Amino acid sequence: MRFYEYILLCLSSWICNSNGAKILGIIPTASYSHQITFHPLWRELAARGHNVTVITTDPLANSTAPNLRQIDIGEVHEFFQRVRFYEIISGDPTYFWNIALFLRQVTLDLARILINNEEIAKLKGESFDLIIGEAHFPSILGLIGHFRCPWIGVSSMESGIQYNVAIGNPTHPILNPDYNLPLENLEDLSFTERVASLVYRVGLVYTINVYLFPTLDGIYKESGLRHVPLIQVQNNISMLFVTTHPIFHNLRPVFPNTISIGTGMHFQQSKPLPNDLQKFLDEAERGVIYFSLGSNVKANLLTESFKKAITGAFAEIPYKVLLKMDDVLVDASENVLVRKWMPQQDILRHKNVKLFITQGGLQSLQESVVNGIPLIGIPFFGDQITNVNKMVKKGYGLKINRRTITKDILVSAIKEVMDNPKYRETAELMGEIFRDEEIPSLQRAVYWTEYVIRHKGAKHLRSPSLGMPAWKFYMLDVLGFLFVTCLLVLMVFYYCVKMFCRLVRRLCCNGGRPRSNRSKIKRN
Ligand SMILES: *[C@@H]1O[C@H](CO)[C@@H](O)[C@H](O)[C@H]1NC(C)=O
Ligand SMILES: *[C@@H]1O[C@H](CO)[C@@H](O)[C@H](O)[C@H]1NC(C)=O
Ligand SMILES: *[C@@H]1O[C@H](CO)[C@@H](O)[C@H](O)[C@H]1NC(C)=O
Repeated sequence: MRFYEYILLCLSSWICNSNGAKILGIIPTASYSHQITFHPLWRELAARGHNVTVITTDPLANSTAPNLRQIDIGEVHEFFQRVRFYEIISGDPTYFWNIALFLRQVTLDLARILINNEEIAKLKGESFDLIIGEAHFPSILGLIGHFRCPWIGVSSMESGIQYNVAIGNPTHPILNPDYNLPLENLEDLSFTERVASLVYRVGLVYTINVYLFPTLDGIYKESGLRHVPLIQVQNNISMLFVTTHPIFHNLRPVFPNTISIGTGMHFQQSKPLPNDLQKFLDEAERGVIYFSLGSNVKANLLTESFKKAITGAFAEIPYKVLLKMDDVLVDASENVLVRKWMPQQDILRHKNVKLFITQGGLQSLQESVVNGIPLIGIPFFGDQITNVNKMVKKGYGLKINRRTITKDILVSAIKEVMDNPKYRETAELMGEIFRDEEIPSLQRAVYWTEYVIRHKGAKHLRSPSLGMPAWKFYMLDVLGFLFVTCLLVLMVFYYCVKMFCRLVRRLCCNGGRPRSNRSKIKRN
């Protein structure tokens, strides 16, 4: 080896080492789709030489990367089951306040779980160059504060409103209502929806800051972690990665520190299907319907009449059905194959799949649209409701209310989507738009992650509105000034005109004496 080659090698290895940052990922929500969205990111950051530690409820399977350490907080799954999390948030939305109180309690308990976890406690003495934390439950903010480093908020859907506020993005309640509100038409809210959206927008942020943070602050103060007020940690966010796309979400004007990673970061390489599934799909000449309500809607959330409706409907239709459910369906007909788990992405890639019946989770919609498959949505909670409503509005599927579903409703919806080509054509059109991306989401996410590491934050990308008092932002002083000025000008104008009229009148009177004449005539 020649000398300069040797120098080059040393230099490049030195550069590589110095580029290897210590990164901590914290995704505490016990939901498979919240987790798998970021699996490729952890893998890629580790492959690029960063030392990555991830706190997750669903660790990557078979990861052998030496610099990817995973802290399994699977106990959060048990916690969610214990408090019947998905059951309660899919409850009647008119009991909104009860759900809000429940979410507050979950947020506090989740913080306690994180604090009491032994593996997480061992991280206390370490330092990190960057934290990537999920921008939903504020439960993680105390942990982030402890490490005093830049942090990026990430979300497998839209982020919580408070993080858009924290980063300075407009959160117009009519143009960009919160995804948790069960709105009918996202693009044109009704009057009551507009009122609800404004009240929710103002109320939520106020409730979090005033009603949740003091208690959460208290929990973290006692935890032995270095304490920074949570509101400061929240507002110290450097970037926000959101899984949004114009097909699925209302467009939102954002600052350059908000990066959209919405084109299917979780998509996996296609893998061969298991033989029996491959055979089942290949032999279905009339087409296959794929039915899955995702990983959070478990069979125990389904009523008996719901199960009867689907088994009854599937027995009546001439198509084969692949049905994912964590329960046996006793009266499923011959044409239905039930499994606890299905390789969903590979199934949806098969040409014989003609329809996907889904709960409307964003990842499922992405996987369907990318393959041009129309949908029937049966939403349960959270963003599923608006996702499905938007899908129906765009015209590539139908919606069924899970509370009123019957065999006949499902059969006629299936017939409509299967027989009317407009749904498939629209789905294909949406697929073309969806696949047309500038650079893959993973590459974007990696670039901006390393950008924040390189610049130790991204202060220069922050909105100038942050820290500005509301009266200044809404220009109350300027508007007040202009209003008073206009008023003064009008008043001056009014008095001028009045004086002018009086002058004219006086001149007229002195000239022709018309008034005295007239009075003479009257008297006569
Ligand atoms: C992980 O490894 C096990 C055993 O080697 C294997 O059965 C499983 O399919 C692997 N999982 C993945 C996701 O590769
Ligand atoms: C990553 O960081 C941890 C904690 O400092 C350390 O124990 C581990 O050896 C590092 N791993 C690599 C591959 O550098
Ligand atoms: C706030 O973020 C900056 C980087 O943008 C970081 O250096 C600092 O430590 C953070 N402060 C706290 C209190 O976490």
